[in-house]
This record gives sequence, C-alpha cells and structure tokens, in this order.
Amino acid sequence: MPTTGPVVDPAALPLERKVSLLSGRDFWSTAPLADAGIPSLVLTDGPHGIRRQDVAAADHLGFHASWPSTCFPPAVAVASSWDPEVAARVGAAIGREARALGVHVVLGPGLNIKRSPLCGRNFEYYSEDPLLSGVLGAAHVRELQAQGVGVSVKHFAVHNQETDRMRVSAEVDERTLREIYLPAFERVVTEARPVMVMTSYNRVNGVPMSQHHRLLADVLRGEWGFEGVVVSDWGGVYDRVAALVAGLDLQMPGPSDANDAKVEQAVRDGKVAEAVVDTGVRRVAALARSLATSDAVAGTAGIPEEEHHALARELAAEGVVLLKNGADVLPLRANSRIAVIGEVAARPLYQGGGSSRINATRADSALEAMRDVGESVRHARGFTTDDACGDGDGVSVELLGEAVGIAADSDVAVVFVAGNGDTEGRDRETLDLPAEQIELIRAVAAAAPRTVVVVSGGGVVSLEGWHDDVDAIVEGWLLGQGGGHAISDVLFGVVNPSGHLAETIPLRLQDTPVYTNFPGEAGHVRYGEGVMVGYRHYETVERAVRYPFGHGLSYTTFATTGMTVEATGDDTATARVTVTNTGDRAGRHVVQAYVATTAGPVRRPARELRAFAKVSLAPGETRVVELALERRAFAYYDVENSRWTVAAGEYRIQIGESAARIVAERSVTLPGDASTKELSLDSSFGEWLGHPVLGPLLRETMAAGMSEERRRASELNSDMIHHVVSVPVRQLLNFPGIELAEQDLVRMLESTR
Ligand code: BGC
Repeated sequence: MPTTGPVVDPAALPLERKVSLLSGRDFWSTAPLADAGIPSLVLTDGPHGIRRQDVAAADHLGFHASWPSTCFPPAVAVASSWDPEVAARVGAAIGREARALGVHVVLGPGLNIKRSPLCGRNFEYYSEDPLLSGVLGAAHVRELQAQGVGVSVKHFAVHNQETDRMRVSAEVDERTLREIYLPAFERVVTEARPVMVMTSYNRVNGVPMSQHHRLLADVLRGEWGFEGVVVSDWGGVYDRVAALVAGLDLQMPGPSDANDAKVEQAVRDGKVAEAVVDTGVRRVAALARSLATSDAVAGTAGIPEEEHHALARELAAEGVVLLKNGADVLPLRANSRIAVIGEVAARPLYQGGGSSRINATRADSALEAMRDVGESVRHARGFTTDDACGDGDGVSVELLGEAVGIAADSDVAVVFVAGNGDTEGRDRETLDLPAEQIELIRAVAAAAPRTVVVVSGGGVVSLEGWHDDVDAIVEGWLLGQGGGHAISDVLFGVVNPSGHLAETIPLRLQDTPVYTNFPGEAGHVRYGEGVMVGYRHYETVERAVRYPFGHGLSYTTFATTGMTVEATGDDTATARVTVTNTGDRAGRHVVQAYVATTAGPVRRPARELRAFAKVSLAPGETRVVELALERRAFAYYDVENSRWTVAAGEYRIQIGESAARIVAERSVTLPGDASTKELSLDSSFGEWLGHPVLGPLLRETMAAGMSEERRRASELNSDMIHHVVSVPVRQLLNFPGIELAEQDLVRMLESTR
C-alpha cells in the first residue's frame, strides 16, 4: 500500500492518534494513519508457508480457510538437512509467496529449543541444539527478508511446551538461559536482522514475556542491538502498560480500545513518559513506511505453483534421515515386487496443526510417486487413521490380513507409519506409535522377506518394540507438500539421503532429561536439567539412546582423516579435516565439530556442537573442510560477572558422525581470558590465596600476626588449608588465632585497585 499523506514524525501527533498505532487494526494488519503517511502492514503466519486469510474468517489456530500457498518443509525437516542453504531456499521462496500474496511481515520461523520430544510444536522448531537452530534460522530470515518482506522471529523466549502455554512460568537459571535458550535468537537477531521479534505467551521466572523488561529492553535491544518492532503473540498481552514500558511496541491482534485507553491514561497520569509511547510509534511507523511501499509487495499476483512445488519436493528430500539400512535393503530396485502398506502412503501427513497450517496447492502421495518408478507396486491400508480405528485401541483384522497378504507375496514391504498429535495448543502424551501400527509392523516384518519402515510425524517417535524386526528405517518427519515424492526419491535412490537427526531418539521417555520436570505443575515448569538438554544430557551421563543427535546414514560411505587444529588467538581456533567419499555414489556429508572440555569452574556437558558444514562429494572425491571455532565455541556464561568467559585450559575438538560417535579428535590449549575477577571481603580464602597480589599479601600478614608456635603448627598441617579454602575471608576474622582485622583486609583490597 503506498503512503498517502505527508511523512510526519508520528510523535508529533495527538496522544490518542499515536496510541492507535500500538495495536492492530484487525486480526492481521496494523493500523494506518494515512494523513501522517503511515500505511498499514499485513502480518501473517508463518514458518513454512504463507497462511493468508480473509479478515472476516481470521483465526490464529489454523481452523479457518486461507489462500492457497505452497507448504514447504516444516522446520523439523529443514533442521535434519543440517544445511543452511536449504533453510535459505525455503526462506527465499516463502518471501516470494509473501510478496505475491500481499504480506509484509511473515510470522516465523520459530527458534525455540526442543526441550522435550513431547512438545506439540516441535515440528515448527529446528533442534535441541542452539547452534543448529540459530544457523538455520539466520539463513531462513536473511533470504526471506532479501525478497523485500519482513520477518518476525518467534517465540521469544523460553517457550518450549504447549501445556498451559499462556500462563506457565519457565523457571530457568541464567547460565541455562544464556547457553541454551537465547543463543538461536541472539544469532538470528545479530546476524540476519529480522525486522520484528514476537514475544512468547509464557512467563520467564514469573514475568510474562510480553512485559519482560530485562529480556526485551536489556538483552534484546541493549545487548544485541535489536532496533525493530517487538510484537506480542496473538492475545499474549496481559498488562499493556507494563508491556509498553518493557519495550513491546505492537499488540496483536487489534484493535484494542481498552488497552489503548489504559496507555493514554498512564501517560496523562504521569505514570508513563510520553517519550515511551513515541519510541514505540516511531518504530511501528518506520517499519510500515519501509515495507508497505507499492513496489515491495505485488498484492495478490498468484504464486509460481509448479516451480515452488518442485522446490518443496527437492528441499523435502534433504530432510529425510536414513536411520537404519540392514542388508542394504535400500535403495529399492525398480523391478522388485514392492508391497506398500499404510494409509499415510496414500494420504500423506505432511504438516502439523495450528497457526502454521497451510492450504497447500497440492500434496504428493508417496504411493503415487512410487508407482511412477516401481514396476510392481501394490498397496494395502494396513490401518486407518479414521477415528473409528485410529486411536490405538483397535486393530482391524481385515486390514491387517490384507497387508500381511501382500507383504508375504513381495520382495520387500514398505510400511508407512505415523505418530500423531503434532499440533499447536497441546503437547503429546507419549512417544509411542499407536498400538495397531506397532502390531502391523511386526506382522508385516514376520511375513515379508525384507521390511522397510517409513515414519512420519512432527517429533520423534519411539522405535522400540519393533526396531530389530525390520531391515531399514527412514525418518520422514513432516516434509511439506512435496514430501511424498521426496520419500520415493530417497527409497529408490534418486536422491542419496543426507539428513541427520537434529534431535535425539531416546530409548524411553523416562530417559529424557526433562522427564521429571515436564510440563511442570501449578503454573511453573522448572528447567532443572539446566544446560543438559538433549544430547548434552545423554552424552554426559552416558545414557544409551536409540539414535543419537547427528546420526544419519547414506547410500555411500565417507572417511574422515588428517585432522588438524590450530589456535588462531587466545580464544579461537580452526579445525581442518579431510573427508573422502569412499563409496560408489555421489553423496552429501555433514562434518560435525564438537568441543569437549573441563576448563573453567562450571560443569560442562560432555561435548557441545560448535561448528558444522555440509559438503557434496562425487565418488572417490576428497575435500579438506575447514571449520572456524569462534570465541563462543569455548565460552561459558559466567553468571557472577554477567559475561561470556573463556577459561584457560585444554579443549578437545572432536569430529563426530553423531554426538555419540567421535571419529577424530585433537586438542588445543587456549590461554583464554585473563582473570579479571574483582575480589571482595565475601570472596573465599582460596580465591584470595590464588590472586597474584592478594595471595602473597594475605599469607604475609597472617604469618606476621601468628605466634611462632602456631605458625609452625600450621606449616606442619598442610591439610588445614583444605578445610578453609571455601570460607569467605570476612568470616575468617571470627576464628581465634587469626590475627587479622577487617581494616587489614580492606587495605589489601585497596592496594589492588
Ligand atoms: C501462535 C503464533 C502465531 C499466531 C498468529 C499464535 O497462536 O502461537 O505462532 O504466529 O498465533 O496466528
């Protein structure tokens, strides 16, 4: 929409008019002020495609109709590609569709961490690892915005469950917040500069995120330099005035006359400075003026359906993870007699429920795609996802019999199963597949010469109870509308699978680090596992899992040799490895670099992903891959001093085929940060003794004040010191025989300043 009026500073407008800019005009757009040259912006979901609705039929849960658009692979699949290029191409295509459909700001991607595999919206999030989430999110945002459209990343922050999502308080300690839950947002905000950040519904340590001054004003804007608009999640403003003061500019949806009136009143009563309103309206107006220009968004031009469907198919294949391939049953041969079993082979499950739901232009069925390639493909439903028999309670003897029949009369059976319950608004209750699907897999595996299982679903499902009965397992997630062809391409080897798990597949739900703390109770969820999320936990406590983070097979093989690591500064290093495709097919390999250390005073996970790169290799081809390890790769968040610190010490750089399988390792010793910790009277005796100036001074002064006899005794008893190292020096004064006064300690401290 072109601007219509003169461009005036919105702060100069009467209070009532400018406040109207701080909440939406309707469900999906911001309020315009035409005579001040401020157009309206259209905001729309979402993370894997455009869900543009007519305002008359608007909703934020995906119930009502939306305009047709392409359903690209959801984040769960993009993450499994471990390829920023895939994320970038998804972002760019969504940007093009946003322009074509008249959308100025796209709501997504979601950058939240998969804390529990049960979170109902995990399909909209990338990974249990913040680096993988951040790198992919940044690529998506950068390319989407390069199309002249804005992005609102979401849901800031610590929004990791659907249960009680609008009230629950995530109780999380500062180090965990900084090391696990914020870094993806931090990377995306600082590197890709989204124009908008959406606050989450939940509270963090008691404070609703829409009014969290510390995280919005101090961290997001202050530390990361975010200059865009902060928008609420839909309906997620609880106290409008507090939210405004904390830095939430735009309340959505709107209008909200009641809240506008509260803001006006607060200004009139002198409780909120008018400058606070001015800052918010200037941000909203600046964004509207920059995005809602006539040439930025074409309106409802239509989308390149064919081209984008082909792209959705190509990108979906990148997210498929080959978990197991016994007896090289895959790839399938076109001339094999193939029994395809399962309703989802014909009626694909390719997206989750809720606000991200796309009215897809079409959806590929794997069955049809397989029929295009295979010479003999027969199908049996096996089970039905209709409610009559799809809730896990009932097994249809007839459907089962039919499936077993064609399986027995085949060379290979491919069973399509699906987890359920991937939706916004509700967490899953179990990792298990419905019982009738497990029974089906087992019955087919017993009858067929070879069995392949293809799993669909937005989050990991348990593979127990049948894993060892089958030859191959393909993790097909939710792949978007091109997923059917993508699966067929992988099954027949048209595409060599190169996806890797972005989340661990545990053996049991009870093994997950959050088991006793998810989804919380009485309005609180305690992040008691701290930084030990996902593989960080399993590797640290050496707990067996079914498939580790980072796992993924290929139809070719790769070798990793010649690893070197060199420090490139006090707190940075570069690792190099040589990777070779040792098989006979072209393939894509992910080099995963983890850092393991015990340096510093905090408990570190056994290893943490700190860099990765995906490379394409022809058969026999060799390449040297270089991975830069930045300061953050070695740092921990030092809560005492509110800063990132690199401790002096040894760091092992490990190249893994997964988080559990390390294939090469080299160490590097880094000087790290000079210790600049300021001591006080509350610092411990041990800390004082370790200080280059205070240590000798303290020893001297104490010795001088002791009787000869006592000094000899304390010298003899070197064990004594162990008993007192953790005593704050101030408390030492309370003990007899310590001839020290508080002034002595204060004088020593002053001598260091
Ligand atoms: C979701 C957001 C979404 C918004 C608008 C909310 O329910 O949490 O992710 O962008 O609705 O549909």
